[in-house]
Amino acid sequence: MRKKVTVVGAGNVGANTAQKVAAKELADVVLVDVVEGVPQGKSLDMLESAPVEGYDVKITGTNGYDETADSDIVVITAGIARKPGMSRDDLLMTNYGVIKGVTEQVAKRSPNAILILVTNPLDAMCWTAAKASGFPRERVIGMAGVLDTARFRTFIAEELNVSFENVTAMVLGGHGDTMVPLVRFTNVSGIPITELMDQQTIDRLVQRTRDGGAEIVRHLKTGSAYYAPAASTCEMVESILKDKKKVLPCAVHLEGEYGIHGLFVGVPVKLGAKGVEQIYEIKLSAEEAGALKKSAAAVQELVDVLKEKTK
Ligand SMILES: NC(=O)c1ccc[n+]([C@@H]2O[C@H](COP(=O)([O-])OP(=O)(O)OC[C@H]3O[C@@H](n4cnc5c(N)ncnc54)[C@H](O)[C@@H]3O)[C@@H](O)[C@H]2O)c1
Repeated sequence: MRKKVTVVGAGNVGANTAQKVAAKELADVVLVDVVEGVPQGKSLDMLESAPVEGYDVKITGTNGYDETADSDIVVITAGIARKPGMSRDDLLMTNYGVIKGVTEQVAKRSPNAILILVTNPLDAMCWTAAKASGFPRERVIGMAGVLDTARFRTFIAEELNVSFENVTAMVLGGHGDTMVPLVRFTNVSGIPITELMDQQTIDRLVQRTRDGGAEIVRHLKTGSAYYAPAASTCEMVESILKDKKKVLPCAVHLEGEYGIHGLFVGVPVKLGAKGVEQIYEIKLSAEEAGALKKSAAAVQELVDVLKEKTK
């Protein structure tokens, strides 16, 4: 039987994610949005490219949730996107309401689904979905690290004029200005980047990675990045549905790992059929551990606001 993936939010990230999941024939796709006509129109348009592209999956668009029943994965991209000059934190309360409502709807119809959160502020939205669904931590996962890592890999490959594929990197922490690109674990076909570029160049690329989301927003002026976010989300979906057990940086609920308790923070995990199958606790240098702690504190601040305002 075919797998089923629901994507909630038929905007830029959601529609592109749905299209990629369908094009790779990973699953039948249900696209949900509050705006009448948008998920229906986009899903029909995607379906009509199936004969040309040669994929055989069902794609359904809807404003309701009944069609989402028994999904294997639910990707949540619903909410408002960051506008120029707007911090991720400004999005907090609006998107909290959206994520809580959406999660309640999907969780009751797909009680065994794995949730992949995309909506910002990411780490706080994961916390919201975990609370609203009551799902175990293996099945509530945030997409951020794969994208942040992809950006870092892109900048390194461009700088060195080498294949993008050859660059391996790891970015930890919250999805925000405090993310922690781990230079020590970054290499080109096994060659540490410290052998290939000077510290000043590395620092510049690390900073560009931290500002990666804002750089796109500055160009687009209205709206934020979506091609790379959709590709990153699709990589997570594929690893789960094909049980590939890829090791990817994802936001997961930490319960003591890295000395962090009760927060979603990006760390390396193994993604397979059960969702998060392993959390890797790597030994960090004092500087890296300090940066991760700072990043976790930024996530904590948002969660504290949520806890206070939703008492
Ligand atoms: N985690 C990441 O790395 C990452 C990367 C890119 C974007 N994002 C975030 O993803 C979210 C979506 O971005 P986008 O560019 O697709 O935005 P978008 O505005 O294009 O799409 C959002 C969609 O959500 C829909 N929506 C709003 N409320 C809803 C509800 N209650 N139920 C169902 N649908 C609802 C809107 O109608 C819209 O179609 C934003 O919060 C953005 O900041 C996160």
